[in-house]
Amino acid sequence: MTASLIPHHIAIVMDGNGRWANKRFLPRIAGHKQGVDALKRCAKACDARGVRVLTVFAFSSENWQRPTEEVSGLMDLFALALAREVPQLKADGVQLRFIGERQGLSVRVRNGIKQAEADTAANSRLVLNVCFNYGGRWDIVQAAAKLSEQGLPATEQHLSRAMALAHVPDPDLVIRTGGELRISNFLLWQSAYAEFQFTNTLWPDFDEAALDAAIASYAARERRFGKTSDQVQQLSVAVSPV
Ligand code: IPE
Ligand code: IPE
Ligand code: MG
Repeated sequence: MTASLIPHHIAIVMDGNGRWANKRFLPRIAGHKQGVDALKRCAKACDARGVRVLTVFAFSSENWQRPTEEVSGLMDLFALALAREVPQLKADGVQLRFIGERQGLSVRVRNGIKQAEADTAANSRLVLNVCFNYGGRWDIVQAAAKLSEQGLPATEQHLSRAMALAHVPDPDLVIRTGGELRISNFLLWQSAYAEFQFTNTLWPDFDEAALDAAIASYAARERRFGKTSDQVQQLSVAVSPV
């Protein structure tokens, strides 16, 4: 059985903004600005193709280690993008969710997040999860802490329900742009059975053709979830309509 043709949930490590800017002798922040446009384009394209959940990595727990100027530039850009883009996203039926540790973010950013979530909560066309001040290890630890607070045993089911992305099914396809072949602390728990697509395309250059190439690669794969190929093919014969 090949994977269903369109992934329900796509997750993306949006990497390569800095190199995109460097190549043009621009400051790194110019690459991040271009990255916001790439995200808007990508969300539209995902919606048009029938993808229902898009999860993007925008700022990692480790990104605080970057030069102060870049970190504050990213925080300003994030707050600005929220103020500017939410009305259109709302009109487009996008439900915005922010995933990550909120403590440590400025009041301005936290308020922007709260407002954006409240403004788009009733939408259901496309869920856009923005991972900001997020790390996969942070998520597992906060979920474990919730279980211990509630006195629940650490089962897979309880942990899954306590994770920050419990409102959506696990990602089917994880894309990383920018050429690095690593996961960098993204969706450690949820990507257990995701299909991966690594591309050298830098995030600001990621366009509809690049998205279609990733989806085409995904659609050609056999997702076995631990079973044999024969088992999976028999199952697909059994469930496919005549
Ligand atoms: C990804 O692009 C965006 C963030 C991590 C905030 P980078 O800024 O990591 O770009 P490169 O990897 O330096 O090109
Ligand atoms: C991962 O990119 C985080 C985001 C895209 C937000 P990084 O550029 O921070 O990853 P590393 O440091 O190269 O692993
Ligand atoms: Mg990078």
